Amino acid sequence: MPQKHRVASLSEIPTETGLEVTAGGRVIALFKTAEGVRAIDGICAHAGGPVGKGAIDGTVVTCPWHGWQYDVDTGVHCLTPQICQQSFDVEIDGDDVIVELP
Ligand code: FES
Repeated sequence: MPQKHRVASLSEIPTETGLEVTAGGRVIALFKTAEGVRAIDGICAHAGGPVGKGAIDGTVVTCPWHGWQYDVDTGVHCLTPQICQQSFDVEIDGDDVIVELP
């Protein structure tokens, strides 16, 4: 059953990079985009790098370890759509960022 977790304050999420948080035993990468906050699996599908510490440009994050890029709206890898980071629903309640985990 999905569970909601308060994972950060809105003001904690940088605009140039993501924010790495943990919730429900998982690492989650949060990003501020022009359309709102996005949350995807924070462990890179390539070699386990910290996606949440990557630079964000629009909706594209670049993993800091080897440069794989994902669209944070969907979690889909930018060059190889078969590779996809799980994405999670986000709610904003005041300054609280709430992520729904399956
Ligand atoms: S671990 Fe993310 S690109 Fe290699």
